[in-house]
Amino acid sequence: MSEIKDKIIGLKNFLDSKIIGQEDLIKKLLITMLADGHALVEGAPGLAKTKAIKTLAECITAKYNRIQFTPDLLPSDITGSEIYVAQKGEFEFRKGPVFANLVLADEINRAPAKVQSALLEAMAERQVSVGGKRYLLPELFMVMATQNPIEHEGTYNLPEAQLDRFLMFIKIDQPDAVAERRILNLVRGEVAQTAQEQFAKLQIDDILAARREVLGVHTSEAIEEYLVQLIVATRNPERYDNQLAGQVQYGASPRATIALDRCAKINAWLEGRDFVTPEDIHEVIFDILRHRIILTFEAQAEGVTTDEVISRLLSTVPLP
Ligand SMILES: Nc1ncnc2c1ncn2[C@@H]1O[C@H](COP(=O)(O)OP(=O)(O)OP(=O)(O)O)[C@@H](O)[C@H]1O
Ligand SMILES: [Mg+2]
Repeated sequence: MSEIKDKIIGLKNFLDSKIIGQEDLIKKLLITMLADGHALVEGAPGLAKTKAIKTLAECITAKYNRIQFTPDLLPSDITGSEIYVAQKGEFEFRKGPVFANLVLADEINRAPAKVQSALLEAMAERQVSVGGKRYLLPELFMVMATQNPIEHEGTYNLPEAQLDRFLMFIKIDQPDAVAERRILNLVRGEVAQTAQEQFAKLQIDDILAARREVLGVHTSEAIEEYLVQLIVATRNPERYDNQLAGQVQYGASPRATIALDRCAKINAWLEGRDFVTPEDIHEVIFDILRHRIILTFEAQAEGVTTDEVISRLLSTVPLP
């Protein structure tokens, strides 16, 4: 195993020891980071969404900022703004909290659309434009946003058309009883300050090196064709299945194809292989497609979920 993979697996194991029973979330966050993407995490309150992201940030020597989204936030509270400096007699740009390597956008659906858009634009363009000038974001730049699924007053749905900017939309569930007990013990220990393990932090260069190494994973032509078929099936479901055709309004964009390819490679790499298998695709496809498929009005009214559509895709499109 390569030295850099050792470090990444070490990071994964450490996070798994701190966030109990959320191995899938941890793995997907790491895949997102290695794929140079951003992640949206949805789950009920108290499932350690914030903790997972915060702990990951603490394990890397990099600039970390947390932005708590609230209804009164302004776009400039994210991006920064020009401030008049009297001594110099000129305006100066003060960078906002988006200028960091790791950004936790906590409870993103609690701020109105124009604030969300300011963040989503910065994410897509990797820069902020203010007063006719461009300010670049760093090479390691990852936004991890959380949102609460429970609908209540004062939440704003993220714009569907911009959700594509998140590489992964990760959903997390309640832990089972065994995990619940382990959480209890862990948190008791943490409160009592007994568990004070030291973790050797990773450097930004480690992450960048891992990103390069992942590119060495091989995707065969047959796997590539399978991947393309899966995406095409979201756009032309009638060619595959009548039920799907009635449920899907818009299919996934080429961004999804690229994301699927990249994330499948990283999954293979984390599993210790240098070639992609269909299982790698199945492992990541839900998180990549769940926010990129738009359901028909009828399907929404029937309460169909995109996860159900993705499951059906997988059973419809023939394996390579
Ligand atoms: N799986 C878990 N492993 C370890 N600790 C956990 C786990 N689940 C919950 N906790 C504990 O519960 C607390 C609540 O977690 P956190 O604040 O991260 O939740 P959240 O998902 O961000 O909730 P909210 O949606 O309300 O912001 C944490 O401080 C953590 O100690
Ligand atoms: Mg939280």
